[in-house]
Amino acid sequence: MKTEVLPAFAGENELNTEAIEKAGEILRAGEVVAIPTETVYGLAANAYDGNAVSKIFKAKGRPQDNPLIVHIAKVETLSDLVAEVPEAAKKLAAAFWPGPLTMILPKSEKIPDAVSAGLPTVAVRMPSHPVAHAVIEAAGVPLAAPSANLSGSPSPTNAKYVLDDMQDRIPLILDGGSSAVGVESTVITLATERPRVLRPGGITVEQLRALLGEVDVDDAVLHKLAEGVRAASPGMKYKHYAPRADITIVKGTFEEFRRYVKTKEKDAFVLCFAGEEKYFPHAVTYGREDDGLSQANRLFDALRELDEQGAKTVYARCPALSGVGLAVYNRLIRAAGFKIVEANNGNI
Ligand code: TXA
Ligand code: MG
Repeated sequence: MKTEVLPAFAGENELNTEAIEKAGEILRAGEVVAIPTETVYGLAANAYDGNAVSKIFKAKGRPQDNPLIVHIAKVETLSDLVAEVPEAAKKLAAAFWPGPLTMILPKSEKIPDAVSAGLPTVAVRMPSHPVAHAVIEAAGVPLAAPSANLSGSPSPTNAKYVLDDMQDRIPLILDGGSSAVGVESTVITLATERPRVLRPGGITVEQLRALLGEVDVDDAVLHKLAEGVRAASPGMKYKHYAPRADITIVKGTFEEFRRYVKTKEKDAFVLCFAGEEKYFPHAVTYGREDDGLSQANRLFDALRELDEQGAKTVYARCPALSGVGLAVYNRLIRAAGFKIVEANNGNI
């Protein structure tokens, strides 16, 4: 199958309505289209059509037991997808939709098993990206969409990265420029006794607690799942976001980091914060040290750049574990296969 790439915008703030219409048609015909969202690009199909959804799994090489997020254009659609809309969901939708927040709730009978991977729950998100919004409207149905990468690769933040992974696997990619957030949405489940964050993202744990009170953070957010433990979010158990390079996260101050890297192989790369690159022969930067959003915005691109530059061994600076930094850390520890050292005193 030949993959067509069409610009999603006709002018600065004007949508390419022809391209959006075409995407809508392809989706109604039960095929898959890659679309931009504010977090990362998504691989979309009609969420009500189990056969269409199965093509997403095929294109990505995604394990069948990893459920998908359903994307909607209007808050009212939520009640079609879930058994019941609790008060907490209404509050979250009012505060953070459209935007980078996904909620998990017990599903309605409209959701095919292919979407929920056989779970009794469904994940729902209302994206803020104008193209995503317009494509959902053009398709006339909610769209199931995981990130538009091959399973195991970093999520794509622009159309070129989607094409790298999806060439000849899907009929259409809409090019809407670079994704603003750069990491996937925050996933919170309301299907547990207390709201629980399964994946941190652009909406922070601090923001969720300010709105809902007590909110748990799943163990798998910060740690490797122990053998045999069932993942609350199946996506958490897979090796993820993995570049080819071998990454080690080095905790400590910049000076400690520098001293640590000096003792290592000469051709090693560093993944550091902006302004620090001048101290190293091979460096890729990912945002500013005190700015989690700028790190999120750069992280996946930086991982792909390390591969493009042929990095074999990489030492990475560690982000702060608060605000959007928590989402950055969550992705980076997976990219590093959970290899973390303390610059001061060896392995931790
Ligand atoms: O920002 C995003 O969320 C992007 C864009 C395209 O919207 N999508 C995305 O989808 O990141 P995906 O499939 O790459 O990640 C969805 C995550 C996975 O970890 C999956 O296991 C989890 O959400 N998930 C989906 N449905 C779930 C459910 N019913 N229960 C628990 N976890 C679920
Ligand atoms: Mg993904």
